[in-house]
Amino acid sequence: MAPFGRLHCAPHTFPSVVESRLRHQRNFNRLIELQRFCRGPLREPSERERLLSFFEFPAPRARSIEGLRRHSLDLSPSKRDPGAMFDQLETIFHRPRPFEFYTANELWTDEHTSAQMLAYHLNEEVDLSSRSGAFIDRSVEWIVPHLGVGKGTKIADFGCGPGLYTTRLARRGADVTGIDFSKRSIDHACKTAAAEGLSIRYINESYLELELDDRFDLVTMIMCDFCALSPEQRRTMLRKFHGLLAPGGAVLLDVYSLAAFAGRKELATCEIDLLDGFWSPHRYYGFLNTFTYDEEKVALDKYTLVEEARTRTIYNWLQYFSPEALEQELNGCGLDIEKRYADVAGSTYDPEHTEFAVVARKQ
Ligand SMILES: C[S@@+](CC[C@H](N)C(=O)[O-])C[C@H]1O[C@@H](n2cnc3c(N)ncnc32)[C@H](O)[C@@H]1O
Repeated sequence: MAPFGRLHCAPHTFPSVVESRLRHQRNFNRLIELQRFCRGPLREPSERERLLSFFEFPAPRARSIEGLRRHSLDLSPSKRDPGAMFDQLETIFHRPRPFEFYTANELWTDEHTSAQMLAYHLNEEVDLSSRSGAFIDRSVEWIVPHLGVGKGTKIADFGCGPGLYTTRLARRGADVTGIDFSKRSIDHACKTAAAEGLSIRYINESYLELELDDRFDLVTMIMCDFCALSPEQRRTMLRKFHGLLAPGGAVLLDVYSLAAFAGRKELATCEIDLLDGFWSPHRYYGFLNTFTYDEEKVALDKYTLVEEARTRTIYNWLQYFSPEALEQELNGCGLDIEKRYADVAGSTYDPEHTEFAVVARKQ
């Protein structure tokens, strides 16, 4: 029997040292899973070890055989239609076309998940939802001189979250606009600005629909949010950025690399309260089906969340880029890459790194 399957059913039968090693491995897997949909970077194993010490996952509920029995479905033919269950599983395991569905709002704006996302954003020690406080400080220290940020520089930050970049840039005197469809994050950002007496314009709307008349010296989209969009949505955003740039203005964005895609593997799992209740305050069966699309360099984490009262499917798409593919997309929308970096803190570009960042300007 596979050790993880057995651990789920009867952890008490394992010698404690084996159990703790397996729990550690499982926490590892959860951290990686969380990092993926929170847009966190895919870290090297040694760094994941360090991050894990800040991020202890509670043990899943109903792990014991007794617990599973208590909660188990009654699958007897008289109660359930076995054909119906087969059809449901077919749907759960179905591979959609790349970017066939867009459900980003379920992840970021849902009452339950947005509260947890905000906690991840504000946890300065981990790279979940937002990067660590130390990285953002370093990033802003680099952005300010390299992209000429000073008093009155007009900046638009797309997908600004709770304002970790916007606040720091406004402190440098920039005239900042932050856009995000998470009301919870925007409310937090507004409170921070008010507390510090910073004049920042926050817009609580989907950036895909938003139209702005202003012109900006700097447009940012940080933490690989660009990768969550379909080719059509990316064109929409790049054309928008092009139209919003003031003469001499720049776009700064980061993306996942092909080195990160090489690490993606297909898998299918199911767990009670998958990710320890991240998806719902109610008990649920969480299926995670990961699909990879080699030709398109796309990966999908498809979450099917089965509660007593409802079933939801959330599609977390990620596009992975070669430098050439990103350049082609930018060029097609009238933007030229000025320089490529390993990250938005200006580190030297490294093709082995799981991400890269670019500064682009109008052609
Ligand atoms: C990975 S987080 C990064 C947040 C921020 N850029 C940072 O680095 O701290 C992505 C952010 O984009 C927002 N977002 C995702 N899709 C969006 C959309 N269509 N319109 C507006 N905001 C969106 C999410 O709510 C979330 O705050």
